[in-house]
Amino acid sequence: METVLSGIRPTGNLHLGNYFGALSNFVEMQNEHNCYFFIADYHSLTTHPTPKDLHGNVRQVLVEYLAAGLDPEKSTLYVQSDVPEVNELYLFLNMNAYIGELERCTSFKDKIRQQPQNVNAGLMTYPTLMAADILIHRATKVPVGKDQEQHLELTRQFSNRFNRMYSVDYFPEPQAFNFGKELVKIPGLNGSGKMGKSEGEGNAIFLADEPEVIRKKVMKAVTDSGPTQHNQEKPEVIQNIFQLMKVVSTPDTYNYFDERYNSCSIRYGDMKKQLAEDMIVFTEPMRERIKAISADEVYIANAARIGREKARESASKTIREVREIIGFRNF
Ligand code: TYM
Repeated sequence: METVLSGIRPTGNLHLGNYFGALSNFVEMQNEHNCYFFIADYHSLTTHPTPKDLHGNVRQVLVEYLAAGLDPEKSTLYVQSDVPEVNELYLFLNMNAYIGELERCTSFKDKIRQQPQNVNAGLMTYPTLMAADILIHRATKVPVGKDQEQHLELTRQFSNRFNRMYSVDYFPEPQAFNFGKELVKIPGLNGSGKMGKSEGEGNAIFLADEPEVIRKKVMKAVTDSGPTQHNQEKPEVIQNIFQLMKVVSTPDTYNYFDERYNSCSIRYGDMKKQLAEDMIVFTEPMRERIKAISADEVYIANAARIGREKARESASKTIREVREIIGFRNF
């Protein structure tokens, strides 16, 4: 049995990229493995949310995790800030993380470009906090999208460095993982490459989107003027639409439009109509459950309490052992 851990920053509603990058098949996964799913609210502080936004976003992600099928009895579903032990491990790991390697991190460089007015120390040490999240439960498998691969590489470095420094074999080497398949990058709809919350209007399909909204967004997706030669290579914007179809539609549907593309008889309008309907069918059960769970304060509070208790039990054991290894002793 593996220890699996996955996290999502609460900065808005979950989209299909989050789902296929970090969650798909997790319903079966939680029956076989020791699973931790958490809401990375400390991480979201790097962009300085208001208290109201912070709380609302944490609640929304909690609801959407539950709506997607996570069972709080089988998995450990918790809010990062409910487990203060993670801060202590973050501090220990920071003593052993070098400025150079943190500065070289692609996500840090991206942030410097995106928010030059707010390049704070939390942004630079984002990978050590992420390593602390993973190592606090000594997780071995970390379901993530392709964008998090480098963070996992750093986690392994910090883990190995700790083990070497104290001559122990305590922390594992966690691997990025996508429930048995390759890591994915789900594209967005506006030609910007990645589906994401901050990639512009209409780019992301949210699990909570109403059918009309999904139809509108998909029909506006960027395409080109169509193929002119048989079997020609698809440009990126077209590959994006096909990739989205691959994850939500049946293989037959995908093959039908692929064949149409290859024979230059495709009509993008028809393809988008089909894609929108398949996205609606895919998200429908979650959309209904989001509404039901969101109205049930008692269920939400209970889920958060059960998760907090289980997560703290595991985290405090790790911290006790790490303190012992480092040499903190009682008098
Ligand atoms: P975040 O909140 O940006 O995204 C949450 C998860 O969704 C995946 N994801 C995608 N996967 C495929 N295609 C996309 N278009 C797409 N967009 C998002 C992300 O790869 C991620 O798996 N740093 C993390 C949160 C975090 C974490 C952790 C994750 C904090 N500590 C420990 C795992 C383990 C983040 O910002 O993800």
